[in-house]
Amino acid sequence: MRKAFIAIAAFLVTLTVLLAITYPPLWWLFLFTGPVVILGVYDLYQPKHSIVRNYPVVGRLRYFMEELRPKVYQYFVESDTNGTPYNRINRSLIYQRAKKENDTIPFGTQLDVYQNGYEWLSHSIAAISHHEIDDNPRVMVGGPACKQPYAASIFNISAMSFGSLSQNAILALNGGAKLGGFAHNTGEGGISDYHENPGGDLIWQIGTGYFGCRNPDGTFNGEAFARRSKSENVKMIEIKLSQGAKPGHGGMLPGAKVTPEVARIRLVEEGKDVNSPPGHSAFSNPIEMCQFVQQLRDLSEGKPIGIKLCIGRRSEFFAICKAMIETGIYVDFITVDGGEGGTGAAPPEFSNSVGMPLREGVAFVYDVLQGFGLKRHIKIVASGKVSSGFDIVKNIALGADLCNSARGMMFALGCIQALECNSNTCPTGVATQDPSLMKGLVVEDKRVRVFNFHRLTVKSAIELLGAAGLKHPSQLTRAYINRRVSQNVMQSYLETYPYIPEGSLLQEPYPKAFDLGMKLSRADSFAPTDIVITAEDYPVTKIIEH
Ligand SMILES: Cc1cc2nc3c(=O)[nH]c(=O)nc-3n(C[C@H](O)[C@H](O)[C@H](O)COP(=O)(O)O)c2cc1C
Repeated sequence: MRKAFIAIAAFLVTLTVLLAITYPPLWWLFLFTGPVVILGVYDLYQPKHSIVRNYPVVGRLRYFMEELRPKVYQYFVESDTNGTPYNRINRSLIYQRAKKENDTIPFGTQLDVYQNGYEWLSHSIAAISHHEIDDNPRVMVGGPACKQPYAASIFNISAMSFGSLSQNAILALNGGAKLGGFAHNTGEGGISDYHENPGGDLIWQIGTGYFGCRNPDGTFNGEAFARRSKSENVKMIEIKLSQGAKPGHGGMLPGAKVTPEVARIRLVEEGKDVNSPPGHSAFSNPIEMCQFVQQLRDLSEGKPIGIKLCIGRRSEFFAICKAMIETGIYVDFITVDGGEGGTGAAPPEFSNSVGMPLREGVAFVYDVLQGFGLKRHIKIVASGKVSSGFDIVKNIALGADLCNSARGMMFALGCIQALECNSNTCPTGVATQDPSLMKGLVVEDKRVRVFNFHRLTVKSAIELLGAAGLKHPSQLTRAYINRRVSQNVMQSYLETYPYIPEGSLLQEPYPKAFDLGMKLSRADSFAPTDIVITAEDYPVTKIIEH
């Protein structure tokens, strides 16, 4: 579009000049073409609006329309089949915070507080001023075996690879992380120069393709891992088991996208299709997974090692915990991704109908870790539509220690949810490899927006804490969050997701709701086929309960 504008502008100017020369009374045509061309040239070079840079003059229509609509937050409410809201991405709020504009609202509540699913925080009469609370609380990630624990922010950038995002988007995200002192997850596509050069803290994600640490046949290469993991910027390492938008689904990077640069970063062959299988080849059962964690810990000289997963079969998570107990090798953190999570591209059935949603996932993972007495060593990271202070507070109340945001950060970069991440035509230059579109995203401007969005969202979480009379996020419990479950019934998260006692899964009898998962799981297999549960052992009603 930039090239098209330059061509159209050149044509208009030439036409006007020719007309004015051949018929001088037509000189006034310059009064139309002149301003349009000047405006277009200005649009091409201004740094603030990606759309206007990429679509000079016509892109302004978007901002004109925005001016016309009411100046209230446009809640983006998604509905389940009953029309019940279960989550909101407040895009306007993200934009306002990213641009450091006024982020208060006039007039009062804009939500239907009597609608099922409405959620709220219990505040306190003994509220505390947010000035009395640390406005950048840190959470130490690293269990007993970790030699280089990392003091993480409570809000970080979730995994998105270079390849699914443009180089300018990655540069701006990492630049924002550097400015704000928070972490940026590389995504499974490896560590690119765009992740590394701005100098922000990195979480290096390793998926089933082992990009950046693989042998030519796609298996894990310890030497390459050791070399890369020692980078000063790499603060933690995350083994990706699954992600909420497409759990259990592999991926294929077509050869056409394997440029010399991508080949260098990922350690793959230029121009050839690259397969990310659905499962890992470095381990095939929970005990081996723990041994792999130990291997990465040793090779990285003791950096925190975590796993990322969306919960599927619950018994597999029991099996992972059993393996941690049996081997004495604990992960340092577990990122729980909700089934509602995002991606650049996935089959709709996988995005919409596979994987446990975030709320249940976080509560379940917290409870099982607590039941095995492991929670004290392992931090939980929550991701899945976390984009406001209340989202952070809600997830920490459920059991998370920190939160990650992917699409929230994309909005901060200027994403307008054009839903073109899978077609290389993203109009804002965020999720495209097209150099002409990428130019629209000015790194210097957008890294500040990422920084602002992070800072003001954390500040909002801190203000909510203060309103609840608390001084640190770790004081939040499930009792603080309430939800309308029907017209005349509200429940706190504590009632919906009751805690289980610490250590209660270490010996029988197990808490009722966890009994079947415990019986179906074994440390040496993700999916043992030889455990038979009969109807006599287990009444059907109990199985349904599980
Ligand atoms: C464009 C895009 C690319 C992503 N790439 C990865 C990836 O490489 N690895 C991964 O574990 N998750 C990936 N995700 C998932 C996010 O990291 C995150 O877990 C999920 O989107 C939920 O967070 P959100 O609701 O804040 O977007 C990607 C998401 C998006 C939108």
